[in-house]
Amino acid sequence: MSKTQIMVVDDELIMRESLAGWLERDGHQVDTAASGEAALKMLAQKRYDIILLDIKMEGMSGLEVLRQVMALELDTAVVMITAYGSISTAIEAMKSGAAEYLLKPFDPEELGILIEKIIHQQSQARENLYLKEQYRERTRFESMIGQATAMQVVFDLIQDVAPTDSTVLITGETGTGKGLAAKAIHTCGQRCNGPFVAVNCGAIPEHLMESELFGHQKGAFTDAKTTKKGRLELANGGTLFLDEIGEISMRMQIDLLRVLEDRVFYRVGGTQPMEADFRVIAATNRDLKTAIEAGSFREDLFYRLNVISFEMPPLRERKSDIPLLCDHFLARFARETNKPIRKIHREAMDEMMLYDWPGNIRELENAIERAVVIGKSAQVMLADLPIICGLPAARSSAPPDHTLKAVEKHHIETVLNEHRWNISHCAKLLGIDRSTLYNKIKRYQLQAPD
Ligand SMILES: Nc1ncnc2c1ncn2[C@@H]1O[C@H](COP(=O)(O)OP(=O)(O)OP(=O)(O)O)[C@@H](O)[C@H]1O
Ligand SMILES: [Mg+2]
Repeated sequence: MSKTQIMVVDDELIMRESLAGWLERDGHQVDTAASGEAALKMLAQKRYDIILLDIKMEGMSGLEVLRQVMALELDTAVVMITAYGSISTAIEAMKSGAAEYLLKPFDPEELGILIEKIIHQQSQARENLYLKEQYRERTRFESMIGQATAMQVVFDLIQDVAPTDSTVLITGETGTGKGLAAKAIHTCGQRCNGPFVAVNCGAIPEHLMESELFGHQKGAFTDAKTTKKGRLELANGGTLFLDEIGEISMRMQIDLLRVLEDRVFYRVGGTQPMEADFRVIAATNRDLKTAIEAGSFREDLFYRLNVISFEMPPLRERKSDIPLLCDHFLARFARETNKPIRKIHREAMDEMMLYDWPGNIRELENAIERAVVIGKSAQVMLADLPIICGLPAARSSAPPDHTLKAVEKHHIETVLNEHRWNISHCAKLLGIDRSTLYNKIKRYQLQAPD
């Protein structure tokens, strides 16, 4: 371990020398300065862990030196040396940022203990800083936020697969960040300087899909006024992201399989074979195995895509990330809307932690956006959140019976269960008074779970 660097600042030679002597005997590296001016000069040249600073000096006073040292915002601890009669000045110095003070006369042992204490505090503070930095690093990866273990696993996986050229299949519920993960793989891979071309297989009508992917020659069909490059060609040198691959038609599955096998294709209406070099990442929120069994997804295409696959965890399985995500979205939307909303009220946060987020991060993102837009206070309040209104259809299966009565019963039950049968709270959420709620509970014979 390197020696602790200490500077002794005192205008009395005898004090400087005795202090330096003791400290050196304890194994520290000591420099001395005979004035405040000299001390500041030395400080500009070298880093010190600790400065022992006499308060009463000719010329620049110890307090003034302290002020200037503090203004430099170093991680140096300043210990003021003061005579017995001037404790009030020492206290003033502590208020200005001195770490400790030492009363004259003092003995070497007392000095030694104080220095050890400061060294210990400093090493702890530095370790904390280091841990914090490490922690910060692990709370995000590319543009993905997440410090839950499930996300750390995803981050590690992405880091491992990114440098390869393997085809990746990302599965996971809607809104879990499959698109972001695909982008991160591209960004961390060898093709990062090439294009990232996304094809949303669920959003492009079947009859346009072929020309969208493979492009078309001028005149290939009525609307083909000019020759157009397809997404495959556009992805040359980069990554082709086949989003919602589970939605692709049986016919396109055959075409796609052929392309993935030999990377050769034809523009619609074209006769010349085209080649493109791209990495394929596909994503789906459907269970492709089930789709294969149901005959709506080709098994051979599945195995082509499923070289490396991983699942994005649903938000309800990493609820510890909710506060972090909230902060992230809140900061973003507050900035975008220029609103001074900086915090989420405890009640609102509790509610969000209880909720299961079937729409995952996208739903959370939308909830925060809405809260910021409608919010009237400096915090996001419970009332600003849409989820408290119930949205029973999104939270659990809707009742089979569509009469108003059945829907009301189901809604009340959902709200009660989700809010642990807190009657006052639920009545407020439902917009009725407590006695009405009690009556309805009785009428519908609702019962709290054990
Ligand atoms: N870990 C995350 N950190 C921050 N934002 C995220 C994270 N994951 C997702 N988001 C945001 O949530 C939204 C949904 O993400 P994304 O579109 O990647 O999800 P998806 O799984 O592809 O959803 P879908 O299946 O509906 O297409 C996006 O706005 C995205 O920026
Ligand atoms: Mg997506």
